[in-house]
Amino acid sequence: MKKNDDVLNNGILKDDILTDLRIIEKEKVQKIRADFPFFKNNPEIVYLDNAATTQKPYILLEKEKEFLEKYYSNVNRSASKFSFHTTELLDKSRDIISKFINSNFNEIFFTYNATYGLNYLALFLAYNYLKENDEVILTQMEHHSNLLPFTYLSKIFNFKIKIWKLNNNLELDLNDLEKLITPKTKVISITYMSNVLGVVNNIESISNIVKDKGIMLLIDAAQGIVHNEIDTKKIDIDFLVFSAHKLYGPTGLGVVYINKKHFKNLQTKTPAFAGGGIVSKVNIDENLIDIGLLGFPYYFEPGTPAISQIYSFSHVINYLENINYYDYKTYEIKLTKYLVNKLQELGFIELYGYDRNEVSRNRFGIVPFNVKNVHSHDVSTVLDNYGIVIRVGHHCAQLINKKLNVDSTCRVSLAFYNISNEIDTLIQALYQVKKIFKL
Ligand SMILES: Cc1ncc(COP(=O)(O)O)c(C=O)c1O
Repeated sequence: MKKNDDVLNNGILKDDILTDLRIIEKEKVQKIRADFPFFKNNPEIVYLDNAATTQKPYILLEKEKEFLEKYYSNVNRSASKFSFHTTELLDKSRDIISKFINSNFNEIFFTYNATYGLNYLALFLAYNYLKENDEVILTQMEHHSNLLPFTYLSKIFNFKIKIWKLNNNLELDLNDLEKLITPKTKVISITYMSNVLGVVNNIESISNIVKDKGIMLLIDAAQGIVHNEIDTKKIDIDFLVFSAHKLYGPTGLGVVYINKKHFKNLQTKTPAFAGGGIVSKVNIDENLIDIGLLGFPYYFEPGTPAISQIYSFSHVINYLENINYYDYKTYEIKLTKYLVNKLQELGFIELYGYDRNEVSRNRFGIVPFNVKNVHSHDVSTVLDNYGIVIRVGHHCAQLINKKLNVDSTCRVSLAFYNISNEIDTLIQALYQVKKIFKL
């Protein structure tokens, strides 16, 4: 690991990086690619849009099919042995998924995606914790899914939103956080990793700053968990949210972690969503509302959950554990370094953040850029002709664009199954952009 980091940080041994990448690709990454049917079925496509969503391993398709063919019924409510068994499978799956972030079975609940999880938590905090003039800190690098729920609710519940701004390195400076915090600060809600800049925030230090001040820490881990290990026992986090589909899992499934210290008095709190499956008793009359709520996690899961998706996702998690998924982080960092070097060599690319900072464990995997004097949508049209899938636009994080002084960027986002050849294809296509637009 040390040697690898040295190679990256020296920034001189470009050929060594390629040689190194090719060895890892041959020994490990090609085997991984064989686990994903997408690559066999689309040999002409170069998929570099992993921050939007990731491709799916065979195990996901197999387990989804197995579940629907053999075990399908509703869960939690029925008295039949068959449905009990399905509920057991669901419970086992919940256990596996919770362990992935080193939490417990009864510390996670399921939603549709990260966006729904973030909305749930914003509502839950507004209903039960936030008072008039309280302050919620968000950051300039937030995805709209974290930014907008709190912002809308601030108008109704009259709490204040404060934005932790990016510095000129396009990072969040911890000193600036200290300056923003006041006795009225109740929540800080922050992304673990920027979906535009590739910056990984130091959530351990942030947790250390806020935890003695009674401030609740909410982590949007939609991107962060894809590239960085999370240990909820090591870092004191109050809430954490991610989507299964960005972590090689199914769509329609989000995961929310709540630190068990918040389970106290749950019965006296108002759930953000209510309905079937969360109550022990309901008695409502003209002058009476008497509702008994179930405990965690059922309290947070009204309605039928995404049963087969939870099951198949737990098998994706097993797959990731078996291949020591997070060991690929070093490979992803090297691949990013290779990409950034190549983009810099072109001479007609504007890089954001990577123009003034090294690729490192705190900035990798996601690379925003523009081709000078060419709109990102035109770039994407040319790349599309070469089968290259990237994302262009504002990436649902428009506060960043204001800082960059642009209205859109091209974004390449890598996953552990990408290879150096794919980056070479991208670079060749960018030469075509140069030719077409006579740069
Ligand atoms: C940092 C971040 N947060 C939240 C989301 C929302 O995720 P989803 O669309 O799965 O709800 C995204 C999606 O791109 C993201 O990148």
